[in-house]
Amino acid sequence: MKPLKTVSNHSTNLILISSLTLGLFSSTSFANAPHPGKELHDSVNCMKCHAAKPYDPQKTTSYPKLVKTVAFCNSNLNTGLFEDEVEQIADYLNDTYYHHPKE
Ligand code: HEC
Repeated sequence: MKPLKTVSNHSTNLILISSLTLGLFSSTSFANAPHPGKELHDSVNCMKCHAAKPYDPQKTTSYPKLVKTVAFCNSNLNTGLFEDEVEQIADYLNDTYYHHPKE
């Protein structure tokens, strides 16, 4: 009877481990997924300047203006972002700092 007990303990552990892993996956890969624009924003180093110049909704007063300003900084910097990447960054900044309506 002794070996049987070991086997059942083992499978209980396996079930525990796999439900733990599942739990980890579901919380990190979906609920807390970062905005794709955040990764772009961080990778082209906008914070090099904007850590000292915080994004200000009083200054950029609408979503279309925000897209234009991001495009302006992008071309100044020669980061070579595509138009849809500029929009993803604008969307991320809008979600995080500006909260302007999109229409
Ligand atoms: C070389 C420094 C520099 C870098 C790097 C830079 N910017 Fe700017 N950005 C500026 C300056 C200067 C302004 C002018 C307005 C100001 O004085 O705040 C500005 C203005 C802006 C504004 C409007 C500011 C506001 O308060 O609403 C946005 C949005 C913006 N930049 C986005 C970006 C993004 C996105 C990136 C990365 C692709 C970026 N910037 C990289 C210098 C920079």
